[in-house]
Amino acid sequence: MELKIFDRAEDAAIALAKRIATALAEHADLVLGLPTGRSPIAAYAELRRMHAAGEIDFSRASTFNLDEFAGIGAAHTGSFRRFMDEHLFDAVNVDRARVHFLDGSAADLDAECDRYESEIERAGGIDLQLLGIGANGHIGFNEPGDELVARTHRVILHEVTRRENAALFGGRPENVPREALSMGMATILKTRRIVLIATGERKASCVERTVRGPLTTRLPASFLQTHRHVELFLDRASASRLPGCRA
Ligand code: GLP
Repeated sequence: MELKIFDRAEDAAIALAKRIATALAEHADLVLGLPTGRSPIAAYAELRRMHAAGEIDFSRASTFNLDEFAGIGAAHTGSFRRFMDEHLFDAVNVDRARVHFLDGSAADLDAECDRYESEIERAGGIDLQLLGIGANGHIGFNEPGDELVARTHRVILHEVTRRENAALFGGRPENVPREALSMGMATILKTRRIVLIATGERKASCVERTVRGPLTTRLPASFLQTHRHVELFLDRASASRLPGCRA
């Protein structure tokens, strides 16, 4: 894993946005995997700024979001689709026909997961996968447990994850759906390159275990150690438990 450690969270976000811009400049038809959560928000803001300044062109790119809540439609204010519109898509020249989401309101959620895997394959696979990381070490919505699921699948969310996502549901964890759909671990590990952003002291423990710990289903992000091209964009606080890195 390649560690990129910055003094401030803002610097990590700007560097991540530059990384994406460079990849897009090299391959205009890049297939991007995108996360939600607080971690990528500043990088998305920088991408919006770069687009307004004419520094980045999304017109031929495709995107696949990692996950979505089940039981709510795209128009719901808590949906990840709405999150992405607000933080990125409404402000850049992405072609909506190339924007892909899991549909949490599909009548047959298992069939919806299969459809998504096929769409990713049809697009030629994901070139650059952005990730955040849950404080419990989840990636996408692949939660810690006795086992992990390879392909896109239905997930029962942990209470801690529902609390962490409460801001999208009026601050009320009980309003966060109990179920979600998520790319699986193999879906993520099959992507060609992975860039993960983690900032703040709250992430220091899971970052340390992601980089140095054993591979364990108890920390899904630890499996990133098996991928050949992973870059971690960290601030000093999230890197503070790594050897030689002090906050
Ligand atoms: C959600 C998303 C994850 C994200 C995680 C971390 O659970 N499904 O993809 O990485 O939140 O959230 P945050 O960046 O707000 O800490």
